[in-house]
Amino acid sequence: MDNKTDTKGEHLIIFDTTLRDGEQSPGISLDTAEKLEIAEQLARLNVDYIEAGFPVASQGDFEAVSAIAKSVEGPIIAGLSRTQLHDVDRCWDALKFAEKARIHVFISTSPSHMEHMLHMDQAQVLAEVKSGVGRAREHTDDVEFSPQDATRTPLDFMIEVLNAAIEAGATCLNIPDTVGYGIPWDFGALISYVRKMVPGEYILSTHCHNDLGLATANSLAGVQAGARQVEVCVNGIGERAGNAALEEVVMAVNIRSDQFPGVTTTVNTSEIAKTSRLVARLTGYPVQYNKAVVGRNAFAHESGIHQHGVLAERSTYEIIEASSVGQAGRQIVLGKHSGRHAFSDTLEKMGLKVQGDTLNATFNRFKELADRKVQITEADLEAIVAEELGTAVSSEFVLEELEVSGGTVAQPMARVVIDKDGTKSEGKAEGNGMIDAACNALSNATGVNAKLSEFNVSAVTGGIDALGDVVIQVESNGIKVSGRGVSTDVVEASARAYLNAVNRILRMQAKGDEREVEIGP
Ligand code: KIV
Ligand code: ZN
Repeated sequence: MDNKTDTKGEHLIIFDTTLRDGEQSPGISLDTAEKLEIAEQLARLNVDYIEAGFPVASQGDFEAVSAIAKSVEGPIIAGLSRTQLHDVDRCWDALKFAEKARIHVFISTSPSHMEHMLHMDQAQVLAEVKSGVGRAREHTDDVEFSPQDATRTPLDFMIEVLNAAIEAGATCLNIPDTVGYGIPWDFGALISYVRKMVPGEYILSTHCHNDLGLATANSLAGVQAGARQVEVCVNGIGERAGNAALEEVVMAVNIRSDQFPGVTTTVNTSEIAKTSRLVARLTGYPVQYNKAVVGRNAFAHESGIHQHGVLAERSTYEIIEASSVGQAGRQIVLGKHSGRHAFSDTLEKMGLKVQGDTLNATFNRFKELADRKVQITEADLEAIVAEELGTAVSSEFVLEELEVSGGTVAQPMARVVIDKDGTKSEGKAEGNGMIDAACNALSNATGVNAKLSEFNVSAVTGGIDALGDVVIQVESNGIKVSGRGVSTDVVEASARAYLNAVNRILRMQAKGDEREVEIGP
């Protein structure tokens, strides 16, 4: 075997694609500022690579990748590109300010994709691989190549393509299980086969989707077979059923080091929970309660026997120490008498960068909240900061007043007052419940008719005065976005979430920021 794993020996490279593949999840649409926020947290998590986007896909993607390349320090910044020379050049234009950058070139190689999507034969695909990878190498000496839909590609053609990519200068070969078709032992065998059949110095990588719920298992099988890079997303988000979850792969390698002798990551695992919460908040994709590692029940013990065991000795029923992934008990940090200084100091200690107008707005929300809730925890602060950051980015309309009435007898009614650049407008409406009435009133006041397609409410912390965290998805004229709002009052949280989503729609319409280029199925 003469292919090297990595100059760092048995280091397993964590290639995070939350901002590229993760962002392709239906309904997720992050602003540049939100992507920067996540990228900075990924840097604190200490991932090796951040795949920041697909620059040719839209102007918004281009701007986000270049903003991350310009300001995020630590991880190497990667951008995705098709093999077309124009795409590769555009990708580099977005990346070129990064201290270290990688171009990730891909093309489909399965018969189904070649026939129905590319309309190319094998010779044409091979020529594309050579020209795209070759062009990328003119820009940077860190070039990844992916044969899309590798697990449904005939083996001999895949090997031919991979060898062509190496000849053209690829330094990393990624094997995407694009449609989540792989089964662990089969996927592991595929990785071993590539190692055997493609000589040279390169890093072998996995990119596993979760259509059969096997993305983490397949990634680990790949590592066992010699892959030294895994492509993962925080909370396992991504196209359809998602990608392999970063936290699962990292903790599996960490906890079961006996199964991966000498293989280590340099992820700062104590940042995992915070990263997970940030991604959930900004994407609007809640984490399922029983999700491995980051779910709120991942360290909860319900049965008496388990509780007894854990109290006597944690390891009886827990294989992961909660604090090792940042899941330790949430602290109470502030109260009603806390001033601006204590407030901004606390945010800074929590690693939340909030300045200027957003800091003022967040402080005002905190004061309002402190009047209704005695103790404000870190989780509460994260929730209001996330909401205000979303609002600051896309702020067109701001909720000023909300009045609702309803119950089991009278028709539910709502009245809202909203502000846009100092101009106030009022909206009144009825609804089939108070939340529906509030959304209808906002629709009247803003003139935007957005249809609610998903509604999710969860409590940020326990207790009767807990913050309600509402995440919704709405659709208007074919644009699907999510919105989030928090308040101790669920109707108010819903109205805030609805207005947040409306603002996003308006911003997307104004920028014409729909995707012009898609990646695949
Ligand atoms: O799933 C996939 O095939 C991809 C490629 C672009 C790597 O995301
Ligand atoms: Zn993918």
